[in-house]
Amino acid sequence: MRVVLGVSGASGAALAAACARHLAALGAEIDLVISKAGERTLVEEIGPEAADALRAACTRVHGIMNVGAAIASGSAPVAGMIVAPCSMRSLAAIAHGLDDNLLTRAASVQLKERRRLVLLARESPLTLAHLRNMTAVTEMGGIVAPPVPAFYLRPEDLAAVVEQIAARAVDLLGLGRPQARAWE
Ligand SMILES: Cc1cc2nc3c(=O)[nH]c(=O)nc-3n(C[C@H](O)[C@H](O)[C@H](O)COP(=O)(O)O)c2cc1C
Repeated sequence: MRVVLGVSGASGAALAAACARHLAALGAEIDLVISKAGERTLVEEIGPEAADALRAACTRVHGIMNVGAAIASGSAPVAGMIVAPCSMRSLAAIAHGLDDNLLTRAASVQLKERRRLVLLARESPLTLAHLRNMTAVTEMGGIVAPPVPAFYLRPEDLAAVVEQIAARAVDLLGLGRPQARAWE
């Protein structure tokens, strides 16, 4: 089982590391692709060591401009993709099918192959352009899952919020036993 993890330059870099942990717990091979802005937010928000640990936890790490990587093709046996976090720029590029780097190309591939694509799209407040792009991705079959806390679970701290959001994102791929905490 192979999953693409895209990391773009929105706030919430910790979500990328948490998604990688949950995917690894499922036994998934992870193909990681990080945008240039994503490299920056990883360092700013979780620090260079945690960013290196994220790369080390993944099976393959691809350069953002390597549009010749296997995951740029629908023929690669990939089960789905999570973009965590997903910037409004990457959301717009995916919504409009620009395929202008490996992250947006791999996302497009999931849509054209009718596989799961989960976007942890983060911005607030939202412009009409952001909302229209979310609508367009949803109309194409993608899942827009903004990283908002599950307040009803009364999380103890930010780490618990991040874990729950990442677990839900992985659960949305529908690849294995649900990992997110459920309301009872
Ligand atoms: C610290 C930091 C936080 C940012 N947070 C956001 C954000 O939450 N949402 C967003 O859409 N862009 C955010 N940006 C701006 C994006 O990084 C910028 O639009 C970039 O062009 C996105 O490129 P990418 O989609 O290729 O990663 C942030 C930038 C920085 C440096």
